[in-house]
Amino acid sequence: MSKTPSPRIFSGIAPSGVPTLGNYLGALRNWVQLQAGHDCLYCIVDQHAITNFQDPAELREKTRIMAAILIACGIDPEKNILFHQSAVAAHARLAWIFNCITRVGWLNRMTQFKDKAGKDREAVSSGLYVYPNLMAADVHAYHATLVPVGDDQRQHIELANDIAEKFNHDYGVKFFPRIETLIPPEAARIMSLRDATKKMSKSDPSDQSRINLNDSADTIALKIRRAKTDSEPLPETIAELKDRPEAINLLGIYAAVTGTTPAASLMQFAGSGFGPFKEKLAEALVAHLSPITAQAQRLLADQSYIDSTLQSGARRAAAIADPIVDEAERIIGFLPRQ
Ligand code: AMP
Ligand code: TRP
Repeated sequence: MSKTPSPRIFSGIAPSGVPTLGNYLGALRNWVQLQAGHDCLYCIVDQHAITNFQDPAELREKTRIMAAILIACGIDPEKNILFHQSAVAAHARLAWIFNCITRVGWLNRMTQFKDKAGKDREAVSSGLYVYPNLMAADVHAYHATLVPVGDDQRQHIELANDIAEKFNHDYGVKFFPRIETLIPPEAARIMSLRDATKKMSKSDPSDQSRINLNDSADTIALKIRRAKTDSEPLPETIAELKDRPEAINLLGIYAAVTGTTPAASLMQFAGSGFGPFKEKLAEALVAHLSPITAQAQRLLADQSYIDSTLQSGARRAAAIADPIVDEAERIIGFLPRQ
């Protein structure tokens, strides 16, 4: 298997909403840390976003907000490559090839498609169905070998490896390398503030279910005050929280933003009701997030900076991906482009 000399990192996030506290604690924070010591490509996957209808003006706005927030979180667009997917044609070119490699049976096993399509399987876009092929193309277009993602994306990465293996086998080459997933060590999974059995999601219809990374301090405090809880006081040990998912979620958030463990945080609030705890939680969240939201606001005030940053990222991304996808096309028998 051909290996790139130093592992290249690729990850993507869809501009289907404003990134949430869940995205931040589960993914973006990790993306920022990975910049030390790796070449990273971070992609705003607008082509993935349109697998569900997006209002065009809103899509433009959400793409810019996403870019501003990623930079405000600490993604360095000079050192690494930050860009929007649609600006690099190599993704769509390679995705088409992968559409012709992937077997329909493989796609039928994708649990995320089943979840997202629900009972409406006949009515969803065919883009949603082949979404994992585009995701595989995102990574393989750069010969990237390390992909930080949440646990829910593991199956898609396995599929990307199956696609690479079949391509290599069918054409008798060792062209696409194996990909490893990088699931963050304390893989924070932040749940909805309204229903702690559901993931906090930027596309949840209820805005009260999440903290957006552009919420004001007042909004954050209000959402935390209104977050669903039970009426019992907080116990002394995590074990006693077994059937209290809302409490576990809020404690997890508190621990993550204050840099402690849920167990240590619990000691601090044992015996008290949720009122005082929620107050401290809101304070801690605001302290942690307000520098990010303020910086994102400043960046967004200069739309041309955001657009030109993404465009220059896209040019640098294309310089890596174009020759790789040219070579994939040569391998399968397409005549040269020029
Ligand atoms: P998505 O919002 O589904 O586009 O996901 C973008 C990234 O954020 C992925 O790596 C997800 O695993 C991660 N992520 C999304 N929601 C959460 C959550 N509630 N808790 C932890 N990580 C999340
Ligand atoms: N499907 C990923 C998600 O929903 C986003 C994504 C698209 C991605 N392309 C990618 C992640 C390539 C990692 C690598 O979270």
